[in-house]
Amino acid sequence: MLSFDDVFVARDRIEESIRHTPLERSNTFSQRTGADIHLKLELFQRTGAFKLRGATNRIGMLSESEREAGVVTASAGNHAQGVALAASRAGVDSTIVMPEHAPISKVNATEGYGGTVVLHGSDYNEAQSHAHEIEREEGRTYLHAFDDPAVMAGQGTVGLEIVDDCPEVDTVVVPIGGGGLIAGVATAVKGIDPEVRVVGVQASGAASAVESFEADEIVELDTVDTIADGIATRRIGTQPFEIIRERVDSVVTVSDPEIAMAISLLVERSKVVVEGAGATALAAVLADAFEYESGETIVSLLSGGNIDPNVLTTVLMRGLVQSGRYVKLKTVLKDRPGALMELTRIIADNRANVYGIQHDRTARDIGMGSAEVVLDLETRGPDHVDQLVDSLENNGYPVETLV
Ligand SMILES: Cc1ncc(COP(=O)(O)O)c(C=O)c1O
Repeated sequence: MLSFDDVFVARDRIEESIRHTPLERSNTFSQRTGADIHLKLELFQRTGAFKLRGATNRIGMLSESEREAGVVTASAGNHAQGVALAASRAGVDSTIVMPEHAPISKVNATEGYGGTVVLHGSDYNEAQSHAHEIEREEGRTYLHAFDDPAVMAGQGTVGLEIVDDCPEVDTVVVPIGGGGLIAGVATAVKGIDPEVRVVGVQASGAASAVESFEADEIVELDTVDTIADGIATRRIGTQPFEIIRERVDSVVTVSDPEIAMAISLLVERSKVVVEGAGATALAAVLADAFEYESGETIVSLLSGGNIDPNVLTTVLMRGLVQSGRYVKLKTVLKDRPGALMELTRIIADNRANVYGIQHDRTARDIGMGSAEVVLDLETRGPDHVDQLVDSLENNGYPVETLV
């Protein structure tokens, strides 16, 4: 089983090639929770995620003949970029198989780091089978994303940094997909101080580890569904499962809305952009997914920042809606000159800001002499929205809140 020494040796091996990422205390989240919250900003790792650590360690352990034959893996996510960069830096040829529908941004990023991308199959499993064919045909070494001691040891180096930079830590919170990251981090952290608590977090739509612990054997999920695509894994790794069983104190879940809220708050309050998987560890603290004491020192591992800009936009807009800072209202007014001005005057009197406005005389279900108006408004919170709606209704406008 993975040992503390493996992680320690991995740190020596990869130190020159990876960033020691910052760890910062967050006043905002400490005040909000009553605990002493620190954020391990691993999204600032090269390639935007911790995966470079494990891939660099694994590639650093290849024999001369393995280096010459090259490596192959299957991934549409952060592992692909980690392997591509680690391999090209080490002068090793890499082939990365991605499903045919992989986002073009991921293909480009992986190629940009020097990997050769092969698009194959409709999902990850088909891509993985093809990667194993390439392994056999070309004699390449297959680099597993998590079920490999060298990969887990490399990921564990982030745990060493956490304890070095925050020796007073009581609890480390870590996202779980296949389990390689938490297996390494728990081994590192408990190796230094067995009293430190390690909590794992999964998305409730991809809770393979939680179900496996309940069943006391590995359970493979039929489907997964979460915005945290980095941890949308159907099956926890065999080796990580054994390590997590022994070294992780508890595993909890968070919902997609909780993850989205953590992403929004990190952007707004900490000026930090994380992907869904990267937000789960903080989401678990904010949602009280596990118990902690007031003043307890908690480090949330923000494991990656590679979020699709469209997903980020949607998450931020929903965050604004949820907190009453953006609202879409529909109303009806008389179709005569000046009517729209009267409506906007009420909005201005209430100090709401207009983002957008649609005026439609042809809308269904309205009288011939009327027009439907949809307003996109910036507001200050739920009370402000209530005040605005009251004011419109008191002035004779029927109001329907669309979002
Ligand atoms: C950003 C991010 N966080 C967490 C994880 C989970 O890591 P593991 O699969 O080793 O549990 C991943 C996996 O790809 C990831 O990309």
